[in-house]
Amino acid sequence: MKKLLALLLALVMVFALAACGEPATEETTPAGEETTPAGEETTPAGETTGFIGISMPTQSLERWNRDGNFLKEQFEAAGYQAELVYSDNEVDQQVSDIQNLIAQGVDLLVISAIDGAALNTVMDEAAANDIEVIAYDRLIMNDNVNYYVSFDNYSVGTLQGEFLVEALDLENTTADDPKYIEFTAGDPADNNAPFFFNGAMDVLKPYLESGVLVCRSEQTEFDVVATEQWNTDTALDRAQNILASYYSGGERLDAWLCSNDSTALGVTQAVTSDYAGDNTVIITGQDGDVANLRNIVDGLQAMTVYKAVANEADATLDIAKAILAGEPVDQALIDAAGWDFEANLDTETYTTSDTGHAATSILLVPETVTPDNYEEVLVEPGYYTVDGDGYLVAVG
Ligand code: GAL
Repeated sequence: MKKLLALLLALVMVFALAACGEPATEETTPAGEETTPAGEETTPAGETTGFIGISMPTQSLERWNRDGNFLKEQFEAAGYQAELVYSDNEVDQQVSDIQNLIAQGVDLLVISAIDGAALNTVMDEAAANDIEVIAYDRLIMNDNVNYYVSFDNYSVGTLQGEFLVEALDLENTTADDPKYIEFTAGDPADNNAPFFFNGAMDVLKPYLESGVLVCRSEQTEFDVVATEQWNTDTALDRAQNILASYYSGGERLDAWLCSNDSTALGVTQAVTSDYAGDNTVIITGQDGDVANLRNIVDGLQAMTVYKAVANEADATLDIAKAILAGEPVDQALIDAAGWDFEANLDTETYTTSDTGHAATSILLVPETVTPDNYEEVLVEPGYYTVDGDGYLVAVG
């Protein structure tokens, strides 16, 4: 019996020793794991933490799809967590989408507002949660918004106006043989829309006043020519009405100022199908939407103002990094950023209420695109490629 017990004890000890061997090998794993935290340290501080909420207006307009993708990609590539939401051009939807992002614990919000004046409550909620907001492309009218990244909106309009002065040869035109123009502007809820319109109008007004340029419909005020939600069909309907009311006899029409591409698309459709005259109507736009670039190649739209949204996203990322690191957003940041595009600091123009509080604004520089320069402005820098039919395809 003793022998049996001794044997059993010996067996137990053998098993126990064998079992002890396993933890010995396990010890190599924690040792191996130590390399992971060490590896993380090589990532610059501040880049591995941070949750960014990105709220875009709608997917129904081409540019916002590009903006959303670029922003999400840039933030994720820099090590942030990013959540991207679109709000279908519905203001209430955007408010609740932003509230959801706040509830999810975002550290920073990047918002392109559907209606810049309708986000007051939710901006107050963001501030109460110590969340800074970057107004992206469109300003938000609330004093809790301290940062704005956009293109120089007024100069978008200036470029359109200057293009028309040149294309219509207004300098050599006289009031006894004037040029004729109509106007279509953007969404009155979008803070950018009056900037675009005023930029163009400030260039064209002297010619309207001297009678060198004539608007037969006399619809030259922003409120009258605005297009809710930048909607293509709304722009189309209004253009058809104007053509039926003032040009049904084939009266001369030389140009149609459109503030952006989605409205230009509607106006081009109306002119193509309903204009009874034989003038080429020079139509302007903004954004470089693929459908409009197709019209530019086909000679149906004369120009667009291009805003490189990939660069806008780049600038937003660097500003977000500074904000999250508690560093100032100032000229030194721009100088040190090493961007391969031009951007200017403006601390005065974009006031968020009548208190005079102005968002610190980083404004990129837009460019005119025509049939003569799209290779150089869009294709060579890699924003677009040309397909087999000679049309432009957006990259990214
Ligand atoms: C503006 C934006 C333009 C244009 C328009 C329509 O706010 O700056 O680029 O896309 O909205 O969405």
